Amino acid sequence: MCGIFAYTGKKDAAKVLLNGLVSLEYRGYDSAGIYLPESGSIKSAGAVDRLKKKIPKTGFTGKSGVAHLRWATHGEPTELNAHPHADCDGDIWVVHNGIIENFRELKEKLIKAGHTFKSDTDTEVLAHLIEEHMKNEKTFEEATLAALNEIRGTYGAAIQYRQDPERIIAARMGSPVVLGVGKGERFIASDPSPIVPHTKQVVFLEDGEVAVITPDSHTIYKLDSTQVKRPTLEIDWSAEEAQKGGYEHFMLKEIMEGPEVIRNTLRGRLIPEKGLAKLGGLESVADELKKIDRIIIVACGTASYAALVGEHMLEEYAEIPVEVELGSEFRYRKPVVNERTAVLGISQSGETLDTLEAIREGKRRGALTLGIVNTVGSTIARETDAGVYNHAGPEVSVASTKAFLSQLTALALLTIFLGRTRKMSAKAGKEIARELLALPEKIERILENRAAIERLAKKYVKAQDFLFIGRKYNYPIAFEGAIKLKEVSYIHAEGCGAGEMKHGPIAMIDENFPTMAIATKDSVYEKMLSNIQEIKARKGKVIAVATEGDTEIGKIADDILYVPKTIEVLSPILNVIPLQLFAYYFAKEKGLNVDRPRNLAKSVTVE
Ligand code: M6R
Repeated sequence: MCGIFAYTGKKDAAKVLLNGLVSLEYRGYDSAGIYLPESGSIKSAGAVDRLKKKIPKTGFTGKSGVAHLRWATHGEPTELNAHPHADCDGDIWVVHNGIIENFRELKEKLIKAGHTFKSDTDTEVLAHLIEEHMKNEKTFEEATLAALNEIRGTYGAAIQYRQDPERIIAARMGSPVVLGVGKGERFIASDPSPIVPHTKQVVFLEDGEVAVITPDSHTIYKLDSTQVKRPTLEIDWSAEEAQKGGYEHFMLKEIMEGPEVIRNTLRGRLIPEKGLAKLGGLESVADELKKIDRIIIVACGTASYAALVGEHMLEEYAEIPVEVELGSEFRYRKPVVNERTAVLGISQSGETLDTLEAIREGKRRGALTLGIVNTVGSTIARETDAGVYNHAGPEVSVASTKAFLSQLTALALLTIFLGRTRKMSAKAGKEIARELLALPEKIERILENRAAIERLAKKYVKAQDFLFIGRKYNYPIAFEGAIKLKEVSYIHAEGCGAGEMKHGPIAMIDENFPTMAIATKDSVYEKMLSNIQEIKARKGKVIAVATEGDTEIGKIADDILYVPKTIEVLSPILNVIPLQLFAYYFAKEKGLNVDRPRNLAKSVTVE
C-alpha cells in the first residue's frame, strides 16, 4: 500500500507535494520521492522527513509534479527503488501503488528492444512501456492508454511527461485514486487526505478508468478510450478522517480491509485448476525444502497464534511435523535443530526482536531459515534464507488484525506449496485453492453484519472478564480473540482449548463471566456443543460464533454471531473476524484509545 500524490496548478509544487506526502505517510514509509519537470527528481530511503532534508533550499521549483511514498513489494526499500521511476531518457515519470503482475515478461521484452532499467521495481516497466509506444508516433495520452492495456495486476498511478508539464495522467485498477478539483489546480492522490487542505471537491476514479488533468480541466476515460462523465463530490472529511478512509479508527479500517488483504496475499500465487501454489520467494531454496523433515515456527503474540493454526494446516495436509515456539522462549532453550529443520519466523513488522533472535539461533544451529513477513526489507526479511511476503499493506493500529488474516492465508498457501511436493492430493489442493479464492466475498458478508456485533459489544461492555474457547483449528483463534480484547479494552480475557476448560478455567464461570465459544460446523462441532452446555449449567452467558443456517446452537447459546460456511482448514480466517470486531466495538464503547492502547508498541524491538 504505497501513497501517490500529484499536483498541477499555480502554487509551489514542491511544497504542496511534500506536505501532502506527510499526510499519506501512514500508507508507507520505506522510501519517498518527488519529480518536478522543471527541476528533476529527488529520492531517499526512509520516510518523508529524510526526503525533505535532501531538498535544496533554493532552485527546486515548479508548478506541477508527482510524488510517492513507498511500501515495498518488489525490490528492496532502497533509494534506487524509490519512485518516481522514469523511462530511458528521463522524459516519462511514474508513481505507482499496486503490483504489475506481468512485469517480468514485459521487462524482458523491453530489454530486448534496447531499454535500460535502473531499479528492481515492477513500476519502472510502465515508464519504459509508454516510451516504447511513443516511438510509434503515439501521443503521451495514446501511449499511456496503450501501455495500461498491456499490463496486468493492480495500479493506482500518476504519470507525467517532461515535455508537457501541466498535464498529468492518473489510472486506477484495484488501487484507489481520487482526483481533487480546485480553482486553477488539480490533484491526484491515493486518498483525499493530501487534497482536503486545498479543496473539498473530489472525483473518485473507478477500476479501469484513466483521468487526464491540467490546472483547469480534467477528463475521465475508460481503458477503451470512451469518455466517462462523473460529477464532483463534496467531502467534508478532515485530513485525519481521510487517512482512515472515513472510519473512526485505523483498527476498524484495517478489519474492513480484510477482503482486499486476502486478495493481495493470494494474487498470482494460486493455480486453482491444478491445486498448486506458486511462491516465488521460496524458489531459491526449493532443493533444501525437499530435504527438511521438520518445521519449527517462531513468532510472538498474534503472529504466534497464526503459527498454531499453521501447525494444524501443515501437519494435516503436508504431513510435516511442526512445532510452534514463542520467540522469547526458543532463543534461550537448547532446541534440537539440524540441517533438516526449517525455522520459520512469522512477523508483521519483521523487526520483533525475540522472533529475530530465535531465527538467528536456528541459523546458528544449521537450520534453513524462512520468513512470513509483511514489511519488505525488514531485518527478518533480510536475514532469513527465503520467505513469503504478506502484501497486506502497512498496519497502523497496534492491534494486529489484517496482518493476522494475511498470515493465515500465507500459511494456507505454504501448506499447498509444500504439501503438493509431498503426499497432498491434487483434489485437496484444488479444494483449498477454490475456497481460498471464495474467502474475500464471505468476509464481506461478515463485515456487512458489523452493526449486530456492535450491539452485542454494547450489551456485554460491563463484563470485567471474558473466556474464549475453541477446538482444533479454532483453538488458536480462542487465544487470538482473548489477546485482541485485552489489548484494546484492558479487561481480563483468557483463551482456552474448550476441552481443557474442565481442568481449571471452568471454576471461574458464573453469571458475570461470559464466554465466546467458536462453534462453527466442523469435525469438533458436537464437542463444542457439550462444552457450551457445561458453561450454561454454571449459569455462564455464551456468545457463539456459528455457521450460517445452524438452528441447533440457538437453543443453548445466549447470543450468536453467524459466519458463512467454509472448509475446516480455512475456518479460522472467517471465525476471527467477529472476534476482532467485537474487541474493537467493546473498546470503542469504553471510550478507549483503540489504535494506541496503553503500555503497548506496534513493533517490539526490545526484549
Ligand atoms: O510484528 P510482529 O508480527 O512480529 O508482532 C508480534 C506481536 O508483537 C504482535 O502480534 C502483538 O501481539 C499485537 N499487538 C497483537 O495484536
